[in-house]
Amino acid sequence: MIQQSINSSAAKNQLQAVLFEGIHPSAVEALQQAGYTRIVTYAKALSGSELRDAMAEAHFVGVRSRTQLTSEVLQHATHLVAVGCFCIGTNQVDLREAMRLGIPVFNAPFSNTRSVAELVLAQIIMLMRGIPEKNAILHRGGWVKSAADSYEVRGKTLGIIGYGHIGTQIGVLAEQLGMRVVFSDIEAKLPLGNAQPMSSLEALLNTADVVSLHVPETPETTLMIGAAQLAAMKPGSHLINASRGSVVDIDALTAALESRHLHGAAIDVFPVEPQGNDSAFASPLSRFDNVILTPHIGGSTLEAQVNIGTEVAAKLIRYGSNGSTTSAVNFPEVALPGHAGRSRLLHIHHNVPGVLAQVNELLSAAGINIAAQYLSTNEGVGYVVIDVDSAASQSALDQLCGVSHTIRCRILY
Ligand code: NAI
Repeated sequence: MIQQSINSSAAKNQLQAVLFEGIHPSAVEALQQAGYTRIVTYAKALSGSELRDAMAEAHFVGVRSRTQLTSEVLQHATHLVAVGCFCIGTNQVDLREAMRLGIPVFNAPFSNTRSVAELVLAQIIMLMRGIPEKNAILHRGGWVKSAADSYEVRGKTLGIIGYGHIGTQIGVLAEQLGMRVVFSDIEAKLPLGNAQPMSSLEALLNTADVVSLHVPETPETTLMIGAAQLAAMKPGSHLINASRGSVVDIDALTAALESRHLHGAAIDVFPVEPQGNDSAFASPLSRFDNVILTPHIGGSTLEAQVNIGTEVAAKLIRYGSNGSTTSAVNFPEVALPGHAGRSRLLHIHHNVPGVLAQVNELLSAAGINIAAQYLSTNEGVGYVVIDVDSAASQSALDQLCGVSHTIRCRILY
């Protein structure tokens, strides 16, 4: 059991935030403004004993994709309150172990969605004008001035598969250019603007001049665009994939481009991507002039980095100062109001029957009045938040920490 008593305004500046991998300064600014001034930054990822030492006193840790927060690293970080992944993915963190230790992990799943939408919009125009081929010819010293296979996007149909944060934004932007927008999603979605839901994936593929993929990586989306789906696309149409590399069968796409059934494609994500910037890239698509290849940079803009810095810092601050775990990826979610004039007790426990009853009995026996209580659980842990009169708070914390199955408890004044 770990007892933590933090967040009087005096304590905030004693809490340490350690940010690795050159996280954008917007995160540092946000933390400082919220009173968390004890911040240590590292330009790169650390590993082994260097990482463990750097995290020895950390209450908050920020990583991007390269810092591996393994079970061993997390267990060593005995002061840790929360982890922020200043990126989309969270594979670099042992999420189960973090949950088991009572540490919520936050990320920034949607901060870069506008960046992806803008790139896709540009790709739609470039593909429909045949610009990739023309550009390649000029780079090789050729000159082909022709309007053949070159179209305005106005009046053409964009088919969006996966009408989520990115898909909806692209739909809105494409309508501004005069495109007709149709979409397909496994969930019922509110159409924005004049977008129209299609009755099936096949109906969308039959209709669209450009098909753009914006689905997550799931068993259902793995190879969801294969030979049959490409054959169902209109002759001369285009495919854009800036979602995940597993969604498109690259060999089938190669064949569809070879036969000129498709007139072009823009691919930002690949089944196997190089590990780093010095690694080589190989794809059967490299030989096509009419394919725009980009190195998984759909969401990579400076604006997105700023947004990610502020978004994840805001989640850490909110958990640190208020206890809310909204959008934590490994933890029961609780969205909490302010607690002015009261103390707030945060109790994280193993999710076994009877803990809440114990908590309430103990507080009641101690004559501590509960002003408000919030509870959420997942398969591993339960998270109960109790607001009490400030005068009773230290006694309440002591009672709470003695409850069996407690993982950790914390108090916010
Ligand atoms: P989101 O979660 O907001 O939207 C995904 C949508 O796909 C949801 O509406 C969902 O219901 C739908 N969906 C799920 N399974 C489906 C299926 N089998 N068929 C049809 N629809 C299905 O996600 P968001 O933020 O729009 O991201 C979409 C994709 O873009 C993700 O794969 C994400 O990883 C990727 N992405 C790529 C980036 C890049 O740099 N290229 C940057 C950011 C996101």
